[in-house]
Amino acid sequence: MLPPLLVDLAYIVSAFLFILGLKRLGSPATAQRGNALASSAMLLAIVVTLLDRSILGYGALAAGLATGAVLGGLMARLVKMTAMPQLVAVFNGFGGGASALVAAAELMREGGVNPGMAEALAAGVGILVGTVTFSGSAIAFGKLQGVMSQRSIRFPLQRIVSGLLFVALLGGLGWMIVGEVTPALLVAVGGGAFLLGILLVIPIGGADMPVVVSLLNSYSGLAASAAGFVLGNALLILAGALVGAAGLILTQAMCRAMNRSLANVAFGAFGEGGAGASEEGPEKTARRTSAEEAAPLLAFAGRVAIIPGYGLAVAQAQHEVKKLVNQLRARDVEVYFAIHPVAGRMPGHMNVLLAEADVPYDLLLDLEDANDLMDRTDVAVVVGANDVVNPEARTPGSPIAGMPIIEADRARSVIVIKRSLSPGFAGIDNPLFYRARTLMLFADARDAMSDLAREVREV
Ligand code: TAP
Repeated sequence: MLPPLLVDLAYIVSAFLFILGLKRLGSPATAQRGNALASSAMLLAIVVTLLDRSILGYGALAAGLATGAVLGGLMARLVKMTAMPQLVAVFNGFGGGASALVAAAELMREGGVNPGMAEALAAGVGILVGTVTFSGSAIAFGKLQGVMSQRSIRFPLQRIVSGLLFVALLGGLGWMIVGEVTPALLVAVGGGAFLLGILLVIPIGGADMPVVVSLLNSYSGLAASAAGFVLGNALLILAGALVGAAGLILTQAMCRAMNRSLANVAFGAFGEGGAGASEEGPEKTARRTSAEEAAPLLAFAGRVAIIPGYGLAVAQAQHEVKKLVNQLRARDVEVYFAIHPVAGRMPGHMNVLLAEADVPYDLLLDLEDANDLMDRTDVAVVVGANDVVNPEARTPGSPIAGMPIIEADRARSVIVIKRSLSPGFAGIDNPLFYRARTLMLFADARDAMSDLAREVREV
């Protein structure tokens, strides 16, 4: 046991660092430090708790820390940025599963004696939400990693079955509170919740998985908070509540950026219907260009917007983009990046990539500010983006109707860099590609950027 005053002090410092870290995650300029602060807070909290409750000795603690540090370091180096959403899904799933196990273990420690209403309620919520998070995250991981079909999986009466299962689980939870907590009841509630997590996530298409991952992140926070109540650990309650609230806010922000409700994400299966790319219609022609032809347009422009999207991440073109920006700025061309909140496949995806290439933060404009400048922009360069610049969003009835877009089509001319005319994430054609003032540069984003930088230098 550690002196209680020391433990309280350590917990207060951790709580303070968690909040400060979260706040710093709000801007790309401070995000790295925010992450470091929050992880130091977690380290402090874990070490103090393990020592205080005599859960581990110093030797086991050091071994655990070393193993965790090696695994974490390897993941940070090896996991590609584009695979981050599935990594987060794994983290959420393990978090939820751990909270469920802790809550169940605490209940069983009581030896079936009714632990009191409040503790039974907290434990029940922890088991239910934590297990849903675990199995739901496993499905989300499978869909994102491509180990299972990305398509929405549905069967007759699915929603009714899920609804009935949910009601039965609430019944189980009620029994935990007023009746006897037996191992059989825990297994039944855990098993039911496991099934519910699967049933809730399988009907959602792979396209919407990042939103689901964010929502499950919020659930994992809720489960951790519940486990905190069971253990009587105030810091775990607080950390869980922070994760729960942050995940919910992020989920809402993502839905807003796609102009979709959470219910539409849960039941709508985006990108699996509507007007497809192969839609029949009048013959459309796109104007091709080359780096050589496009370079003078950029070199003699007054203002250039760069609109990055998922293709930039796939091609890892961020460093080449920076080189082009340097070339243009050396010629006194004003350059800004127009960042759509859901460009790429995870929140902040573009910010992270551009930060990696040391692109100055003051060049990064959000959707509203970028759109304000678009009428006065000579060239909009769309780098591996598609849905986030698709004017179809203005057409009522389109699958992306109402989604706020970067209005590249209002710039004087547009250069789109992608490998083909194929659609983006939402699976719909993009009329921007066929406009008179749009030039298509069909190439891998990285090659195109390095060719453009070279050609601009030689103009
Ligand atoms: P997308 O609409 O997915 O388009 C990306 C484009 O990149 C594709 O059309 C593809 O065309 C091109 N591309 C792929 N690899 C490339 C390469 N190596 N070089 C050049 N181009 C390449 O991307 P976006 O505009 O960033 O939009 C994001 C989408 O994801 C939105 O629909 C959004 O709602 C959805 N979404 C995002 C999030 C978050 S949080 N970011 C969450 C949920 C959903 P080619 O194959 O022709 O090259």
